[in-house]
Amino acid sequence: MCGIIGYVGKKPASEILIDGLKTLEYRGYDSSGLYISGEKRIRSVGGVNNLYKKLPKGMKGTCGIAHTRWATHGKPSEKNSHPHTGTSGYIFVVHNGIIENYIDLKNNLKKQGSKFSSETDSEVIAHLIEKQIDEGSTFEESVVNTLKVIKGAYGIAVMNKREPEKIIAAQKGSPIVLGIGDNEYFIASDVSAIVKHTKTVLYINDGECLVITPTSHNIFTIDLKTCKRKPEKISWNTERVKKGGYKHFMLKEIMEAPEVLKNSVRGRLLPETGNAKLGGLETITDKLTTIKRIIIVGCGSAYYAGLVGKLYFEEIAGIPTEVEIASEYRYRTIPLNKETMILAISQSGETADTLSCINEAKAKGCSTIGVVNVVGSSIARAVDAGVYNHAGPEIGVASTKAFISQLEVLLLIALYIGRKKNVSSSEGKNIINEINKLPKKIELVLAQAKKIELIAKKYSDSKDFLYIGRKYSYPIAFEGALKLKEVSYIHAEGYGAGEMKHGPIAMIDKQFPSIAIIPNDTVYEKTFSNIEEIRARDGKVIAITTKGDKKIPTIANEVIEVPKTIELIYPILTTVVLQLFAYYVGVHRGLNVDRPRNLAKSVTVE
Ligand code: AGP
Repeated sequence: MCGIIGYVGKKPASEILIDGLKTLEYRGYDSSGLYISGEKRIRSVGGVNNLYKKLPKGMKGTCGIAHTRWATHGKPSEKNSHPHTGTSGYIFVVHNGIIENYIDLKNNLKKQGSKFSSETDSEVIAHLIEKQIDEGSTFEESVVNTLKVIKGAYGIAVMNKREPEKIIAAQKGSPIVLGIGDNEYFIASDVSAIVKHTKTVLYINDGECLVITPTSHNIFTIDLKTCKRKPEKISWNTERVKKGGYKHFMLKEIMEAPEVLKNSVRGRLLPETGNAKLGGLETITDKLTTIKRIIIVGCGSAYYAGLVGKLYFEEIAGIPTEVEIASEYRYRTIPLNKETMILAISQSGETADTLSCINEAKAKGCSTIGVVNVVGSSIARAVDAGVYNHAGPEIGVASTKAFISQLEVLLLIALYIGRKKNVSSSEGKNIINEINKLPKKIELVLAQAKKIELIAKKYSDSKDFLYIGRKYSYPIAFEGALKLKEVSYIHAEGYGAGEMKHGPIAMIDKQFPSIAIIPNDTVYEKTFSNIEEIRARDGKVIAITTKGDKKIPTIANEVIEVPKTIELIYPILTTVVLQLFAYYVGVHRGLNVDRPRNLAKSVTVE
């Protein structure tokens, strides 16, 4: 997720663009750049302030586009930052989204003489547009023809040095909004960068394009048919907008789940053959199919995601898998050999303990892979190969969208390996089919937010909580307890439901509620009897189960349902219920759920 801003009007564009980028920095902040008519293109690594420092004084241009980047393809660097240009350098493009077929397009263009200067997917857009103008098409025609050949998601803004007072923008899957001012126009990835200039906005829809000049704006489809659209008035302030209208980044990031799950598998599912396509692992595929052992390392939520990954690798890929807390693993003497692969999971890609495990394993000649969210981060650069989970920037300290995205990517990797071993294409197709239904099913879970809030409010004065689950729900019990601890400061413990009678059940009484994760899976009956054990000691039980379950309402005090799916997908659905529960308990206890005390988003020290 990147941030785009554009301006055309009477005022110098530079200040407006820089200011807009600063507001959009929560969308991505690893590099940025701009192009203003009559000026040179300027780009820089790091936050927008670095770009600002590079701007020459007195830039006069009154039309410009700018971009702040959240790297997906190509590490954060000046040459990978936007705007990108074509071989002749007169078209400038800023892009938010992912072009799935960029490799094929790039290879074709190279055969036709195009010279590429970055590792990004976005650069192909500039080359395609330039090529068509060179072949005689108009600026508008070249943009729409380009949009017809690119696959994936995009929000783009394009400028042409030869038409300096014009910006063409378009969207499909990544937002672009138009701000209508007094003889001036603004375009941006969201209204947060516009509201201080105008409250009159116009939203374009997927598949639509927009041309703005100092005196006009036109919307048309990619078949060049004009669209009429009435502007709207917005009332929010900037801060509220950055959070997408939500009170906190944590809630916004929980509510982004459907989109995040789509982005994490975009261009990676081959439903026809039941395979997963993971370009980041192609260089080590042989290794992946011959290794005898996987050791997953991570910290906090990443470690719990690893516990679910263990089940995926053992049950789908048939590879014995251990999961280690990185801060423990780095100081232990572990017998490693070339048949062992280390898999590091990290949202930030900067967690010191996890990084040190990778360096230790590499020193011992082990191959290493990573599931990382931040492109170009230290862990991403340290491992031999890996998969970015494309969850976008996660601002809330408590990991939510990155965690469910990690689960989905771990499932894809297990499928990727499994299909090269004993998993049949029909099993693969079944898993892919359920993955494709996930965004809709998550929407049904999110639609229960109000109900979950009421239950959270009812129990928000509790001093302790026990979270229980078995098999795929066992790691989710730990993750749910961690979320509650992080944002409500309540003592909470995750526990194997079957392990409870070996100790923790001693704590249970009327004041000590439990959360039981009991979807309709292979261990349902076992978990059911564990709930009965709690009820027998007057313990209150909040149960998360499959929609339509008739038995659970007879023994649980509260029931939250998730849509029916297959066993290995339930962790993704039940986790979101627990994220919402923790969020609402934290909010009702009046706490800063985005910046909990004593915590940091990325732990770069031991
Ligand atoms: C999770 O909500 C916490 N923010 C924390 O436990 C986190 O998972 C841990 O610090 C690992 O971070 P990473 O994924 O960036 O490596």
